Amino acid sequence: MHTTTEAVRIDVGSSAGAYAVQAGPGLLGSLGAQLRDVGLGARQFVVSSPTVWRFHGTAIAQALPDAHTILIPDGERFKHLQTVNRIYEALGAAAAEREAAVIAVGGGVIGDVAGFAAATWMRGVALVQVPTTLVAQVDSAIGGKVGVNHAAGKNLIGAFHAPRLVAIDPAFLATLPRREFRAGLYEVVKYGIMASRELFDRVAGDLDSLFKRRPERLVPTIVDCCRIKARIVTADEREAGERRLLNLGHTVGHALEAVTKYRRFRHGEAVAYGLLAAARIAAHRGLFAEDERHRIADVITALGPLPSVADLSIGDVLEAIRRDKKMSRGVLRFVLPVSIGSAQVVNDVQADEIVKTLTELGMRS
Ligand code: NAD
Ligand code: GLY
Repeated sequence: MHTTTEAVRIDVGSSAGAYAVQAGPGLLGSLGAQLRDVGLGARQFVVSSPTVWRFHGTAIAQALPDAHTILIPDGERFKHLQTVNRIYEALGAAAAEREAAVIAVGGGVIGDVAGFAAATWMRGVALVQVPTTLVAQVDSAIGGKVGVNHAAGKNLIGAFHAPRLVAIDPAFLATLPRREFRAGLYEVVKYGIMASRELFDRVAGDLDSLFKRRPERLVPTIVDCCRIKARIVTADEREAGERRLLNLGHTVGHALEAVTKYRRFRHGEAVAYGLLAAARIAAHRGLFAEDERHRIADVITALGPLPSVADLSIGDVLEAIRRDKKMSRGVLRFVLPVSIGSAQVVNDVQADEIVKTLTELGMRS
């Protein structure tokens, strides 16, 4: 664990070149200098949302006084090609050429949408990620996955487009609604379960001070998650192996989001149910100890209430899981914990195991 509040640098490898994740208080103020350090002084296009701008626009504009600003709506229901098109139109109107840099300042939706615009405008321009939600700071800003949803499913249109820099400033989190902050904490818990017992134990024992959002408590937690993600995506950028572990909780999580049309759950909340489901399936198989499963359930309960699943039909959820399977070339992959701090990918989870687990989680048959 890192106890300093100085900026921490984490290096990430990618096929397009290595980049740094910088995390620490005050990083927004030095963003201009950081961009110049990576050779992106010239034409800067900040893509953000009205919500983020309302809280942080003045500070962002002070940090990047020469940047053009493009505001697009965020939230899952705007994560589609029409929103990307709004960015193209603004880039076109400003005659943005190959040397343009897109600076995504927002949550995971802004990062994914602006990142996709950067990946495709003039066959690819530079991208900088300045994540402003906890989900984006610990997960989506790192690793180069960008994209949008299609009527046929979530994130079906996308690219790998590594950023040139990721700048994480915990000051953004002060204005995040509590529910959004909790959604990010479920992702932090995911990292603990899949890769670090020490992180899990620390988060479980320190929820009160995390909720106070003091940078000296938050930064070490964010940095630990970023280090795990950086290590994994450096080793497996295109998700041929180890990167799949990052999908712990996502098989059931994505299905819950899909059956509720992306309206009921924050992504992290659906992942929380997915973590509970994965822990149960693993425990039923004798792969994972019951007392560890209880520890996971206790932390998730302590994080606060989740939206109800009592009205959701197990058949519908199973069908959504199968649709996801079709999208992943017929293989139903589940990531299951084997102990807190370690997980594995399995390809042989059966429908009856899922039904039993969803029943235990309170869904209706
Ligand atoms: P989000 O981007 O929708 O942001 C959540 C809400 O918080 C929005 O209403 C936004 O306006 C608001 N907000 C953002 N920053 C704020 C701030 N500092 N203060 C106040 N309000 C703020 O949601 P998210 O949870 O950040 O991201 C979820 C998205 O990320 C999903 O679309 C998911 O698919 C994607 N994702 C991508 C990856 C990846 O690897 N690319 C990984 C995980 C998640
Ligand atoms: N959030 C999963 C991944 O980046 O692979």
